[in-house]
Amino acid sequence: MTGYRRTAGAALAATAASWVTIALAFSTGADSGLSGGPIGYATGGGNCTACHPLNLGPGKVELLGAPRRYRTGAAYDLTVRITDVEQAGAGFEISAEGDFEHLGSFQILDAVNTQFTDSGFNTSYVTHTPDGVDDSISRWGDNGGSYEYTVRWTAPDVDRGPVTLFVASQAINDGGALFGERFYPTHATLGHARPGDSDGDGDVDLRDAAAFQRCYDASFASSDDECPYLDLDGDETVAPSDVELFAIALSGPTATLPAAYVLADIVRGGGLYDNWWKINGAPEPEFSPPFDKHPLYPPTDKVEGIGLQAGSTTFRCKECHGWDYKGLAGAYGSGQHRTDIVGVFGTLRTPRELFDLLKASPLDIPGGHDMDAFGMSDADIWDVVKMTLEGVVDTDEHIDESGAFLGSELGGSIDFGQVCQSCHGSDGTDIDLGHSNDPDYVGTVANDNPWEFLHKVRFGNPGTPMPSTDLLRWSVSLAANVGVFAQTLPTK
Ligand code: HEC
Ligand code: HEC
Ligand code: HEC
Repeated sequence: MTGYRRTAGAALAATAASWVTIALAFSTGADSGLSGGPIGYATGGGNCTACHPLNLGPGKVELLGAPRRYRTGAAYDLTVRITDVEQAGAGFEISAEGDFEHLGSFQILDAVNTQFTDSGFNTSYVTHTPDGVDDSISRWGDNGGSYEYTVRWTAPDVDRGPVTLFVASQAINDGGALFGERFYPTHATLGHARPGDSDGDGDVDLRDAAAFQRCYDASFASSDDECPYLDLDGDETVAPSDVELFAIALSGPTATLPAAYVLADIVRGGGLYDNWWKINGAPEPEFSPPFDKHPLYPPTDKVEGIGLQAGSTTFRCKECHGWDYKGLAGAYGSGQHRTDIVGVFGTLRTPRELFDLLKASPLDIPGGHDMDAFGMSDADIWDVVKMTLEGVVDTDEHIDESGAFLGSELGGSIDFGQVCQSCHGSDGTDIDLGHSNDPDYVGTVANDNPWEFLHKVRFGNPGTPMPSTDLLRWSVSLAANVGVFAQTLPTK
């Protein structure tokens, strides 16, 4: 697949004269608002593909050191590691964002290789310096084709709800020009840790009291993850000084949801529902006939037209339950994907029941999906459970019976221009999505399968740097607006 982008972003529509200025500006680090977070998009930025044509590669960017939950006022040393053995160096940008607000603060740990944007004036974004890029190039080979930038983030002083750290990076070819770089984004969403809530289930209960005893006087380095949350006065130990504060925090055994569910990530769950092995990196399920289908997939019945799919696709949640989440009551009630299996929309099962259904073998629970045996971890299953219970919407509110999106074409065209155009081009045809021998474009998918379109726009496209609009804190209606516009784009 080629990432060559014919439609230039706004910045590149500039004249040749201002090109020079842009080049000078950007050799010194990326500009503000390019980390891929909602604030950058809202202020006319976005991510690196606003200028660098999108190229895909086998590399990745990792954000190391981010906790699952932040403690108010705690400092976290983060490492941004960019890897791509085929490239020669890297640059990056990071931000920490809540509801259209930058949250917490960054501190520069390495002033040679990293800096705040706008020549140091905008402390909401940290990026590389020219020296950083040079250093990445000189160490790239010795590091096995990777480089690490470090930065400190200090959490807000009070509970500000979930914070997402957005990272955008470019693995460069050292060509000194705009072309040939590869774009890798990542993010981590951190919940707020209630003081004393060691397990993250949302309250401070007797389980936390037991953890308090385990952590008491223990050194943090050797203790597991739970102890820092019990250090209520922030002196890096769980000691006598924390006892009284813990007693005040203790609210009783009221948690009704498992901690793993409370902490689960709906956006990641949406990706897993689509194609879990492209999200968690597990091997693609591979079987040979007659065992070439997930055990719950119906046997092929060509006369009735049921169970016509085979192979790894039958292990995707969407293949049995549909992009509209309605199973036999929805689009998969007929056609090539007919399974006659129930939908997930409106399920009455509790998080725990759903977790067990997805994890257990059919020998233990009727309808057990055995996903654990096929390659999904407990954390994966919790993510997809949370998405099923809290992320799934009634698609009928956004797509009518004929498959037309409901919403504002004008609003959709503006948002498409802001978020989608840098990769897909102004008419959605820059990337051939390659579903078939004929080219497939954004317009093709929007018209052929609006439910799939809505799901991928909301949660991203697994295994690609495509952003998730849920992560950008868009409502589903905003995503549907883009659908209205996309249905007007060329389909071939
Ligand atoms: C507004 C346009 C623009 C955006 C957006 C942009 N860049 Fe660039 N970038 C340039 C230009 C122009 C060059 C080439 C000239 C130069 O090297 O300064 C460049 C060069 C680079 C280089 C040096 C490449 C080399 O081979 O020496 C790195 C690293 C880089 N960009 C990283 C980033 C990252 C990371 C982002 C996103 C966070 C980003 N850029 C976003 C315009 C942009
Ligand atoms: C091969 C087909 C298949 C795949 C793949 C599959 N399921 Fe299911 N699912 C079923 C069947 C069959 C049932 C009905 C089980 C029963 O109740 O006996 C079911 C039931 C469910 C239910 C309960 C619905 C209700 O009415 O309460 C949920 C929720 C669910 N699945 C979610 C998922 C998720 C999430 C995934 C992906 C991780 C997934 N399923 C993958 C076949 C599948
Ligand atoms: C950073 C680049 C990037 C951005 C921004 C982006 N996409 Fe994508 N998109 C991709 C890539 C890469 C693919 C996968 C191409 C492939 O499968 O070959 C893709 C795939 C798709 C698909 C096809 C999914 C399928 O069925 O295979 C649709 C539809 C789509 N994008 C729509 C959008 C819309 C709408 C937006 C804006 C809300 C958007 N994209 C923003 C990079 C991007």
